[in-house]
Amino acid sequence: MKSTQPIVLIGMMGSGKTSIGKLVAQELNFPFIDTDFEIEKNLNLSIKEIFEKYGETLFRKKEFDVFKLFSNRNNIVISSGGGSFCHPNTHELIKKYFLSVWLDVNGDILFNRLKRNQKKRPLLNGLKENELRNKVKNLISERKDCYNKADIRVKLSEQKIKESFYVTYSKIISYISKY
Ligand code: S3P
Repeated sequence: MKSTQPIVLIGMMGSGKTSIGKLVAQELNFPFIDTDFEIEKNLNLSIKEIFEKYGETLFRKKEFDVFKLFSNRNNIVISSGGGSFCHPNTHELIKKYFLSVWLDVNGDILFNRLKRNQKKRPLLNGLKENELRNKVKNLISERKDCYNKADIRVKLSEQKIKESFYVTYSKIISYISKY
């Protein structure tokens, strides 16, 4: 396999970026980086605590810094936080240096996944079921134009993680082999 730009998985919370990213990295034998985890490590706080203590603006700045740090590292797989690709500075950086892969999962599936896993996500924490459903819908419509600018779009449905990984991996490989 030839050397490739850093690969970054983008898409909504709950789309499977971390689980699929780990498997893609394993298969390619590349290191795996999770931007949320890097930020938590750097500040020694959870994402929830960072939002509470410093607000979203600082979080977005830290997110940008992590991408900047890895922008010249070939042969790695990164899983991003769902909002990063839609934040203008980070978007520009990713478009310039990274191979971006959008995991496109529909709102109903995301809602079902996120309602079981809401607490650690500050943008969703405390929402009632109908509020969560609306929030997911609104975030998708706010973000879909920017997600659409990813180099690769992978449409995923209710597949199991292994199948989703396989679909994602195949798309990445066929894209890379064309360039
Ligand atoms: C966010 C997504 C989260 C995390 C933060 C903000 C977003 O990451 O970065 O809570 O704006 O969509 P995941 O997409 O990994 O849940």
